[in-house]
Amino acid sequence: MFKKSVNKIIVVFMVLCLGMVFTGCGKSKVSQYEKIKESGKIVLGTSADYPPYEFHKEIDGKDQIVGFDIEIAKEIAKDMGVELEIKDMDFGGLLAALNTGTVDFVVAGMTPTDERKEKVDFSKIYYNATQAVVVKVENKDNIKSMEDLKEKTVGVQMGSIQEGIAKDQIKDAKIKSLSKVPDLMLELKSDKVDALIVELPVAKAYIEKNTDLSLSGITVKDETGGSAIAIKKGNQEIVDQINKTLDKLVKENKIEEFVVKATDMIE
Ligand code: ARG
Repeated sequence: MFKKSVNKIIVVFMVLCLGMVFTGCGKSKVSQYEKIKESGKIVLGTSADYPPYEFHKEIDGKDQIVGFDIEIAKEIAKDMGVELEIKDMDFGGLLAALNTGTVDFVVAGMTPTDERKEKVDFSKIYYNATQAVVVKVENKDNIKSMEDLKEKTVGVQMGSIQEGIAKDQIKDAKIKSLSKVPDLMLELKSDKVDALIVELPVAKAYIEKNTDLSLSGITVKDETGGSAIAIKKGNQEIVDQINKTLDKLVKENKIEEFVVKATDMIE
C-alpha cells in the first residue's frame, strides 16, 4: 500500500520533469528575426494597387511591383543582409497573412490605428498624407462637402480606414467596399459609385491618368494619418531594426526622394 503511493509519486515526478524539459526546448527556440536571417530572405506583404505607394508596372516587358513603399522595403532587407520577396495580396488580408506567418512584414501605406495595434505591432510613422475624395469631373461642382455625399454611394477599399471614415463622417451614406482600388476607380468612371475616398497621393495618381476624374474640394477629417510598417507581435528586435532603417532614410531625406521617383514612374 505504502509502496504503491511512492511509485505514484515517482511517476508524477517523472512526468513533471519531462514537461519541464519540453518547455525548456520551447524557450530556446529561434526568434523570427533569426529565422529570417538564416533563410536569407524576408517576405513582404503588400497590396500593389496604391500608386505611388505600391503598384504594378511593366518594365522591359515584365510585370513588376514598384513604389516608394517597395523602395523602403528593399532598404530594410538590405540593412538586414537578406533578399526581399514580395507577396501581393488584397489589402484586407494583410494582417491575417502577417499573423499566420505567410509574410514577415507589411508595407502598404497602412495607418497604425488603435484597433490594428491590438493585433500587430507597428514601426514609427514613415510618411504622412491627408485623405481625398475623388469624383467625376462633371460632378465636381455638386459634391463640395461631406454633406453633399448624404445618401450617395461612396466607394472605399475593403478593410481600410477609409471604410471607417465613410461610416463616421457621411450621413446615411451607402458604402461600397471592394478589395482593389483600380476596381473602385472603374466603378466611379461608370457611375456605379458617386465618390471614392483614398489617400491624396493615390487620388492624384489616378486623376493624372483619368481625365474624367477629379479631386473634390472636400477636406476629410483624419486624426490617425500616416503610414507605418506592421510586424507580428512579439518581435521587438525586428521593430527596432526596421526603425533604425527608417531613421536613416528620414535623416538622408531618402523617403521624399523615393516618393518623387515612384510618382514619376506612374505612367
Ligand atoms: N491608409 C489606409 C489604411 O491603412 C489605406 C491603405 C491602402 N493601402 C493599399 N496598399 N491599398 O487603411
